[in-house]
Amino acid sequence: MRVFRTIAECRLWRQALDGDLGVVPTMGYLHDGHMSLVRAARGDNAHVAATIFVNPTQFGPNEDLARYPRDEERDLALLRGAGVDAVFAPSAAEMYPDGFSTCVPVEGLAARLEGASRPTHFRGVTTVVAKLLNITAPRRAYFGQKDAQQLAVIRRMVRDLDINTEVVAMPIVREPDGLAMSSRNVYLSPDERKAAHVLCLSLSLAERMYDEAERDATTIRDAMRALIAKQPLADIDYVSIADPGTLDELDVVDRDALVSLAVRFGTTRLIDNTLLRAP
Ligand code: PAF
Repeated sequence: MRVFRTIAECRLWRQALDGDLGVVPTMGYLHDGHMSLVRAARGDNAHVAATIFVNPTQFGPNEDLARYPRDEERDLALLRGAGVDAVFAPSAAEMYPDGFSTCVPVEGLAARLEGASRPTHFRGVTTVVAKLLNITAPRRAYFGQKDAQQLAVIRRMVRDLDINTEVVAMPIVREPDGLAMSSRNVYLSPDERKAAHVLCLSLSLAERMYDEAERDATTIRDAMRALIAKQPLADIDYVSIADPGTLDELDVVDRDALVSLAVRFGTTRLIDNTLLRAP
């Protein structure tokens, strides 16, 4: 497995490839969720690359950039074991040299939900993903459904900018108790980790209510909020039931709907979601 630190080396490798390249962009500290993306990419493409870059521009001033977990040696071993051909792991200076002054904001979609709490977040994500897709020019790029809004925003950017890459979404991978895998789960204290179970319980409640023919979105949101509020360590940021493409909040669940939430446990903010599919 080749490891590239510079854009020039990565481009040179890319240009010599014959056949489809699949890319898995990551911020490292890999878990089974990331590895499911790698496995899908391995199955679909002749060549697979992963990127490891803790992207500073998607962290707000009071967020966890400095303490974001990192373990590159372990990440590289996992990627090697999964049959990845190349890893692009640049420095911040390589990606954002002095004088860097361009960004790729996606209007509207990026301002909702996560964007309301983290106003500069998606601008950082779309800027770095645009750069990574330009550098690696993959036939397919793989992202997890766990970051459902990120996925919607990236899809919109790829469509609007005619980027010649298929965006492939992979299902959420969960811990045995249902907690969605996330690099940030390591921040949870043992009590917060137990309490975080309420996230998937509230999503299951939404699914059950929907299966039992409840279609009033406010009724479902209120029931989810009430369930989460019973957990003293949980502090709700938002509970949303929205159109999966536009992220417009729904009054009536009369089409496919994305149920998503963000909840704080101490200083750790977790997100999760499920899709309600119209019959
Ligand atoms: O989902 C992530 O890990 C990041 O937001 C991404 C897509 C790699 C961009 O930095």
